This record gives sequence, C-alpha cells and structure tokens, in this order.
Amino acid sequence: MSNILEMRGIEKSFPGVKALNNVNLAVREGEIHAIVGENGAGKSTLMKVLSGVYPHGSYSGDIVYKGEVRAFKDIRDSEHLGIIIIHQELALVPLLSVMENLFLGNEQARGGVIDWEQSYVRAKELLAKVGLKESPLTKVGDLGVGKQQLIEIAKALSKEVKLLILDEPTASLNESDSDALLELLLELKRQGIASILISHKLNEISKVADSITVLRDGTTVDTFDCRAEPISEDRIIQHMVGREMADRYPQRDPKIGEVIFEVRDWRVHHPLHSDRLAIKDVNMTVRAGEIVGIAGLMGAGRTELAKSIFGRAYGKKITGQAFLHGKEVDLSTIEKAIDKGIAYVTEDR
Ligand SMILES: Nc1ncnc2c1ncn2[C@@H]1O[C@H](COP(=O)(O)OP(=O)(O)OP(=O)(O)O)[C@@H](O)[C@H]1O
Ligand SMILES: [Mg+2]
Repeated sequence: MSNILEMRGIEKSFPGVKALNNVNLAVREGEIHAIVGENGAGKSTLMKVLSGVYPHGSYSGDIVYKGEVRAFKDIRDSEHLGIIIIHQELALVPLLSVMENLFLGNEQARGGVIDWEQSYVRAKELLAKVGLKESPLTKVGDLGVGKQQLIEIAKALSKEVKLLILDEPTASLNESDSDALLELLLELKRQGIASILISHKLNEISKVADSITVLRDGTTVDTFDCRAEPISEDRIIQHMVGREMADRYPQRDPKIGEVIFEVRDWRVHHPLHSDRLAIKDVNMTVRAGEIVGIAGLMGAGRTELAKSIFGRAYGKKITGQAFLHGKEVDLSTIEKAIDKGIAYVTEDR
C-alpha cells in the first residue's frame, strides 16, 4: 500500500529547546497510525508542523503528502488538502450552538447571507455520521466532553478530511465515550480516511492501530507494523523510555508520616443551581509523604472537591472543616490557601 504522508528528517527548535530532531514518519493510505512517546517527546509539535500551525520555513525537513513536497503557510493550506487536526485542547465555542460551531469560519452562505436552513440540514447529516442524535441547536457548552470531541470530528468531516489527526482525543473521556470514538475511527478507516492518533493509552492503541511510531526526546525511535505481528505494551514502553523494563510499577518505599491535612464533612453546592449539592459530606485525610488519589467518573466531583478546598475556587454555600497539622484553618480565599502552603495545579493545561 502506498503512503499518503511522509515526513522526512523534520527538525524544529524553540528558543533553548530542540523539540524535533530528525523525525521520520510514514503513514499509509487509509491506516490508523498511532504516535506514542513520553510527555515532551515532541508529538504535538510534529503534528503542528504537519498541519501548518508552524509554517514552512519555521522547520527543516520535508513533508510529502500525496506524492508531492508541500510547503503549508498555515492551517488553511493543509485543511484545503484534507489534513485536519483536532488539538489536545478543544477549540469549540461553548456559548454557540452545535450548528454554529460546525460551520464556524466555513459558514453555509448564499449571496453573502448565512443560510440557516441549509446549515441545519447539513449539521443534522454530519451529526448522524458521528452517531449523535442531538439537535444542531443545542449549545455546545451543555454537552459533555465526549460529545464535544465527536463534534470536532463532525466538523472535520464537513471539510472532506483525508487525513485526520487526533491529539490525545480520549485523555479526558470515560470508557464508553472513548470506545465510541475509537469505533468511529474504525468506521472512518472503512471509508478510506487515514488517521494519526496520539495517545498515552496503550490498550486503546493496541485495539485500533495498524502502525505505531515511537518518539523519544524529539527523535523517531522506531515504527512497528501491527499487522505483521502483535506488539506488546511492554515493548512499546521500552522504546518510549529507552531502557529495559524490569518492573512497570517498581516497588517503592514511601515514608508515610502523621496526618497533616484533613477535610471533614465537606459540602459544596453547585455555583449556578444552589439547591443542588455538588459535593456531599466528603471526609479525607492526607498524611505526610503520601500521594492520595481521588478516583471517580467524569462528573463525580473530583475537580470540584479539589477546587472548593483551594480557596473556594468552586461552588457556593460551602460547609465543613479543614485542618492543617491538627488545627482548623481558614481556606476561604485562594490567597489564604496559598498563604497556608497549599498549591493547586489545574486540569486544563
Ligand atoms: N511553543 C513552544 N515554545 C517552547 N517550547 C515548546 C513549545 N511547544 C513545545 N515546546 C517544547 O518542545 C518539546 C516537545 O513538546 P510537545 O508538546 O511536542 O510534546 P508532546 O510529546 O506533545 O508531550 P505531551 O505528551 O505532554 O503532550 C517539549 O520540550 C516542550 O516543552
Ligand atoms: Mg502533546
């Protein structure tokens, strides 16, 4: 099978960082090609080079797409040829409707006037293609991330995509939303659309990928052909980190001390619907030297709990007590929380 895309000897620097150093990538017509690598390996940068976010001239090496060397000036240039990228951070406008988002920058117009009827009909068709039954008039902000991701793909389909690039599409999706998205990728593949899938979830990659390219420190390490032989996760990880994996989860010997932080009967009401409880009577202790995981499905209240503790950055009518080193503390503003030595790293990068 021939290649739809070849990236040859790609190099790209930022001030003080060589993000890409001699990267080679070959994607075959109609395949699902996974790109894996540790954080900072250069995956997103490579895709931004490919899609023209970093224009020709700002990197060295060649992009050969459909048999010709290309010099994309911007993202419109690559979109024009059917290369569509869905970025790690979603780019939909939450206050606009699904339909308005689908055609943003590509409005369905007649004689300079937006044709809403036509937009509605086209939007319905596109939503059906990604398996969504929502009305085109639904506000995007009212949909969960799983559905928003599908809308990004519907948007890609409206532009006659030939090569779809997904940068960690399932990172914030729950299992059933992830499955739906992977199913859709397989369906697009049946229609002859090639995709590049960046993901840290190796089990998902094993499910759908035809090839896997591993990046490490800005360089291609290897490409595996999954159709030739099954590739084990351990082998992929070994290439990602560059050393033999004796233990995937090495034995640790943490020094756990006294309880230094505690939350008692923590209750938080929803910021907009103040009769609704977002957090209901949470109790939690954290010991010195301990890493405490907070698990739960999307919408279970993990982020809301953390934010509400950190200076009431989320929620209304917050009740309950917080203790530091056994003494009750006032964490009612972000300033006070920081003063007490608490820091917060947000989920949105
Ligand atoms: N705009 C930028 N300016 C400066 N340095 C950057 C920029 N974008 C990326 N880098 C650096 O380039 C390297 C590659 O980053 P990149 O975002 O491509 O990694 P990644 O493989 O996508 O990582 P992740 O899995 O965390 O998304 C990193 O060292 C990063 O800090
Ligand atoms: Mg990235």
